[in-house]
Parts: sequence; structure tokens; C-alpha cells
Amino acid sequence: MAYLSGKTAIVTGAAQGLGQAFAERLAAEGAAVAICDIQPGVMAVGSAIAATGADVLCQTFDITDVSACRSFVAATTARFGRLDILVNNAAVWRSTPVTDPWDKALADFDAVMDVNVKAAMVMCRLAVPHMIAAGGGDIVNISTDYVLPKRRDGVNAPDTDLYNASKWALNGLTDGGAQALAPHNIRMNSLCMGPTDTEMLRALFRPGGKLAHLGGPDGPPPEVIAGFMDPADIAGLLIDLMKDGRTGENIGIWAGQTIELGPRKRWDVRMRERADFTGQPLRDFGPPPWSDAPEPVWSLAVGQPTE
Ligand SMILES: NC(=O)c1ccc[n+]([C@@H]2O[C@H](COP(=O)([O-])OP(=O)(O)OC[C@H]3O[C@@H](n4cnc5c(N)ncnc54)[C@H](O)[C@@H]3O)[C@@H](O)[C@H]2O)c1
Repeated sequence: MAYLSGKTAIVTGAAQGLGQAFAERLAAEGAAVAICDIQPGVMAVGSAIAATGADVLCQTFDITDVSACRSFVAATTARFGRLDILVNNAAVWRSTPVTDPWDKALADFDAVMDVNVKAAMVMCRLAVPHMIAAGGGDIVNISTDYVLPKRRDGVNAPDTDLYNASKWALNGLTDGGAQALAPHNIRMNSLCMGPTDTEMLRALFRPGGKLAHLGGPDGPPPEVIAGFMDPADIAGLLIDLMKDGRTGENIGIWAGQTIELGPRKRWDVRMRERADFTGQPLRDFGPPPWSDAPEPVWSLAVGQPTE
């Protein structure tokens, strides 16, 4: 029996790129998948996944529309009877020089935060009651390596402050959510990847894009593409993460390096890593605040046998 057989997963922003890869892999592992995107192309992705024999629910709507999110989660649980996995993947990137005109800066802030942060919060809030009812679950926020200590020059580029801020805000959701949800056997982690071969990244290399000077009319040259990671490999790590059972971590995934979870980090070590990044002095945070909570011993709440 497939690992996720009988389980249900939601993936937002699944019309292309990483979201599509996550949906395809979750379905291949046996999960019923509910996918959504603002782009109607998500329907073709859903049809292709359904053609493999998987159960698929597909909707086109704007993830910033709270009532549409509500209807989507309701439709998912009505159709599949449960919800076990949520992948908050939908996001937008905008070039946001700090010298932008006032009105543009305010509009960009709202647009980026509404999709990248608020929608993730809304989807979490909608999903959690169903996960508790299912005996547990996994929430995975899709972040970026910008939130982790640098491993090479060239990341954390200028004109990206609002996108970065949105992903740092996801840290708070992941960290606080993981602690609050641990007693319910719900884990929350972030996947924090570097350059991955998707439309979001390729668009930066086209005329008008932030990295247009490195690309051409067709986007990045082959030698640059060769350095990108494959969304399918990141999707493989998503499954590894669920089997692993850890919670509250920002999992770093760096181009050119082995794509792996790495050793688990204790809560206090994770905090220290962030302190390092911001240049603050290290201090001992003591044991994790949920150390009295039962340790999730199985890989994935949704992997537990059901009645
Ligand atoms: N590609 C990379 O190099 C990279 C690196 C780090 C993090 N990420 C993150 O990975 C995730 C997936 O990005 P991607 O690279 O596949 O980009 P992408 O642009 O190809 O895919 C993002 C998807 O989100 C959808 N979306 C955007 N706004 C939406 C809205 N309002 N409502 C519904 N759907 C909406 C888009 O239509 C698109 O299908 C994002 O969270 C992104 O920030 C990507």
C-alpha cells in the first residue's frame, strides 16, 4: 500500500512549478490531493494527476479570498472525509526597491503579504480543526533559503525586501505553530530552498526581470539553468520530511548541495541559528517549551492506523 494511501493533502499554488511537483508526488505516494491556483492551468494539472488514478479535487480561485479558501477546505473534507497535509506553496515575488514611490510600496506590501503570509495563516487556521479530528497532520510552509544563514554570496538580493519579509514572517507561523500544535500531533515545518527551476525564477532572467542582465529573451541561459534545483527533488524531500516526523524546523535546501533533511535540530539550537544570523550573542534557551508534550513517534500523523 502506498505510504499516503487514505490520506488527503492540500497544495496551494499548484498550477506550475513547485506546487505542481508537490501535488504530483503526494498523489504518487497515494494521497488524495486537493489543489488550487489563481491560474486556470491548475485544472490541467489536476486532470493529469487524475489520469494516473489518483483522487483529485481542483479549484481555481485567488488564495487571498478568505471565503474561497473556506469553501475549498470545506469541499476537500466533504469530498475526501479528512485532511491530513497542507502545503502552503502559493506565493508571489515582486521587485520592491526601497526607493519605490509610496503608493507602489504600499500596494506591493499588501499584495506580497496577503498571498505569502496571510493566506498561509488562513489555510492553517482552516486546516487545523480537520487535522485534529484526523489525529494529527503535517503543515509545510514553502519558504526560501533567504531566511537561513548564507552559504554563498549572491543570495538575499536587493529589491527583494518585501518577499524576504514575507518569508521571515512564515518563520513565526512555523515556529509558533509547531509549538502550539505539537500536543495535537500536528507538525509544522518550512522548506527553505534556493534557486529551483520554476517559472517564478525563470521570469527574473527575462527582459524586465531583476536578473535580465544574466539572461535573454528566453530567460536564463543553459549554464545558469544547470545550477537550478529540480522541483521533483524538492518534492521528494517533502515526503522525507513527513516520514521523518520532526517539527518546527526551517529545512535548508541549497543548490549544488545534497538535497537532504540533515540532522534534526533541537528547539534551542534552531533559535541559536537564528541568533547567529542576526549577529546577536548566543545564549542558552534551555529545553524546548513542549518537552513535556508527547514526542511524535511515528513519521506522519496521517500514517497512523485509523479505526
Ligand atoms: N523557484 C525558486 O527558486 C524558489 C526559491 C525559494 C522559494 N520558492 C518558493 O516556492 C514556492 C513556489 O514557487 P515557484 O517557484 O513554484 O513559483 P511559481 O510562480 O512558478 O508558482 C507559484 C504559484 O502560486 C500561484 N499563485 C500566486 N498567487 C496566487 C494567488 N493569489 N492565489 C492562488 N495562487 C496563486 C501562481 O499562480 C503559481 O502557480 C513559493 O512559495 C516560492 O516563494 C521558490
